[in-house]
Amino acid sequence: MKKILVTGAGGQLGSWLVPKLRDLYGDLNVLATDIRQPCDEIMGSGPFQVLDATDTKAVGQTAERHRVDLIYHLAAILSAVGELHPLRAWGVNMRSLRTVLEVAREQGCALFMPSSIAVFGYGTAKDPAPQDTVMLPTTMYGITKLAGELLCNYYHRKFGVDTRGVRYPGLISYGTSPGGGTTDWSIDIFYKAVRDGHYTCFLGPQTQLDMMYMSDAVSAAIGVMEADQDMLEHRNAFNVTAMQLTPETLSNEIQKHLPGFTIDYDVDPVRQAIADSWPDRIDDAAAREEWGWEPLFDIASMTEDMLKHLS
Ligand code: NAD
Ligand code: SER
Repeated sequence: MKKILVTGAGGQLGSWLVPKLRDLYGDLNVLATDIRQPCDEIMGSGPFQVLDATDTKAVGQTAERHRVDLIYHLAAILSAVGELHPLRAWGVNMRSLRTVLEVAREQGCALFMPSSIAVFGYGTAKDPAPQDTVMLPTTMYGITKLAGELLCNYYHRKFGVDTRGVRYPGLISYGTSPGGGTTDWSIDIFYKAVRDGHYTCFLGPQTQLDMMYMSDAVSAAIGVMEADQDMLEHRNAFNVTAMQLTPETLSNEIQKHLPGFTIDYDVDPVRQAIADSWPDRIDDAAAREEWGWEPLFDIASMTEDMLKHLS
């Protein structure tokens, strides 16, 4: 059975991915790590260790002790926090990636590195943004993710490390709070709808972005790592998407369940500028063709499930 190490396991994605990995590969075979203590479910269902993903020696020793075959590297600073603290975003995102790539090279591990729609910027076609295209990110987060994609390709070409990844859109989930991204409105809206019946959105009503329900994001991470590598023409950074949302379309959908729900807008120019630089839709044909990517949730089923769990 595979032995897996997850960095940044206490975050929004890790808190859904770790339980699924433990179901599939066995509780004791999935070591969750983070610089902070995660939720009770992760602490209680298998091993957890406090680990700074930028600490090459500590990550190397941990991987060796647990005889790790596969690293899911989730630790990162996301787009909105990254614009508040750009040098911190560069430091955490690049140092941690360099660390896990070196550990993977030395110890023969495979590596999953999630990239993002933030790698796109002005100059990329907006609808759809192709798989292989001009990429001129405007945020520090996007710059680190694009550099990360290239570095992962380099480690595969030069050293034969089995690096793989996807470009996630905004991920929607309940449970753990989002970590400070531009797409966090699509989660906040559900919490405020249920609690207050009203949401003030920091993006304008017609700002369209790709989104995905978290259970599909978990399937994508596991699907690309389990794919037959002979089928992979691309390797890192597959575009994946499930739906395109604007604050207006999502609020209309929520109103079908909560007719009294209202939304207004108080646009944050920093996050609006980030969102405006990203595509309206990405083309995920390569992921569908090369490893059978197919999301299960659309706007209707995602909204129903979110409200069921939050109500
Ligand atoms: P998050 O902010 O919720 O979680 C990140 C975790 O990393 C946190 O628990 C944090 O404590 C941890 N962390 C930060 N610095 C660390 C360090 N030095 N060492 C160890 N852990 C550290 O983020 P997330 O939403 O779970 O995102 C996970 C990954 O998916 C990230 O790489 C992110 O770029 C990518 N991604 C997320 C989204 C999204 O919408 N959530 C979209 C695209 C890509
Ligand atoms: N959801 C992420 C963000 O907004 C995209 O990577 O930062």
